[in-house]
Amino acid sequence: MQEPPPLLDKCLGFTRHRELMEEGIYPYFQPFEESYGPVARLDGREIIMVGSNNYLGLTHHPKVKEAAVAALKRFGTSCSGSRFLNGTLRVHEELERKLARFMGKESALVFSTGFQTNLAVISSLAGKGDIVYCDRDNHASLIDGCRLSFATTKKFKHNSMSDLENLIENHSGNHFTGGRLIAVDGIFSMVGDILDLPGIVSLAKRHDACILLDDAHSLGVLGKGGRGTAEHFGLMDQVDIIMGTFSKSFASLGGFIAGERAVIEYIQHHSRPLIFSASMPPACVATVITALDLIQKEPEMREKLWKNTRRMKREFDRMGFDTGNSETPVIPLIIGSREETFLFWRKLLDHGIYANAVTSPAVPPNMDLIRTSYMATHEDHHLDRVLEVFEKLGREYAIIDPSRAHPVTSRAAPDS
Ligand SMILES: Cc1ncc(COP(=O)(O)O)c(C=O)c1O
Repeated sequence: MQEPPPLLDKCLGFTRHRELMEEGIYPYFQPFEESYGPVARLDGREIIMVGSNNYLGLTHHPKVKEAAVAALKRFGTSCSGSRFLNGTLRVHEELERKLARFMGKESALVFSTGFQTNLAVISSLAGKGDIVYCDRDNHASLIDGCRLSFATTKKFKHNSMSDLENLIENHSGNHFTGGRLIAVDGIFSMVGDILDLPGIVSLAKRHDACILLDDAHSLGVLGKGGRGTAEHFGLMDQVDIIMGTFSKSFASLGGFIAGERAVIEYIQHHSRPLIFSASMPPACVATVITALDLIQKEPEMREKLWKNTRRMKREFDRMGFDTGNSETPVIPLIIGSREETFLFWRKLLDHGIYANAVTSPAVPPNMDLIRTSYMATHEDHHLDRVLEVFEKLGREYAIIDPSRAHPVTSRAAPDS
């Protein structure tokens, strides 16, 4: 057989995943047989799911499923083309009108994934001579959007307004004639803390910067009406572009942006990830239209999510886990090393609990963690079991620090 080309040497030398599989602690690409929302089936066993972004539990809501099936029957499985050409249906436009109204913005535009949305927005708005400022903990899609653009990227320390201000001031004065974009997550997806949006808005105003807010984890979750981080802080009209994904509270797949009509129309006609990729399938569009309707009509889903969140945060803190600065349904349990995290993940699974093992570079070095996340559809008996297992294993593997254990008042209650 011919020698493989040198480019592929790295692939042949890549064996770490296999070693972890042999040790039985490889936590990725686990193939679930079934998923029912808070419960799923893996290797023939029922497990409790605390690793999903299905915050409102809408993936299994009867009305949502009905809408998806009806759209599938009416429009078929795919649009087989880009929004730009044959891939726009009236339901795409209906969804855009509804999203714009919900977000209190002039226009909205939907994309086939959230990742693609961030690539599209940054690469079409920021070009040579512009600067994009990114929080160090931003989602990969914002970082890759910067890479795809020809702009300069500057990363600031996580949620540090003083670091952002220093970066901006280092590039001020007459010599700088470009535009500034501040691209930030609303809820940081791995550690569950909330962006200092008031700080961002004030800096953006002072330095004529445009704000792109990625509210993937905040829509449906934060704010009185579920409109996300900007609503939570009462700043809906101060954020230029709000971006969201449909893969979390909206129970589907896709993404969108909402903003001024001129900005949306510009992106619509300049974004290569939108123009050269097929549009969101009709069943996904129908799912999101129904989920959006339920988010507005059934606030009790959000209330239940926060009730569950407060309980879990309070209990983990009481036990002595390190939950970082989480204030949301994303609650990390910080462990430290990768090996301990993988082992803890495996032990959780052996006890019938699925959570996500998150390691560097998704989190800073030595901050490897188990990311737990909660749903409105978790019932008390699911959460009782999760807490019981975490407490037992946390003590057994010395993840719980008894000196940290205290009956704290939970910080995870911004919306209630
Ligand atoms: C903050 C953030 N932005 C964007 C995305 C990408 O969204 P999607 O999964 O819909 O492509 C994600 C998903 O993980 C995310 O967490």
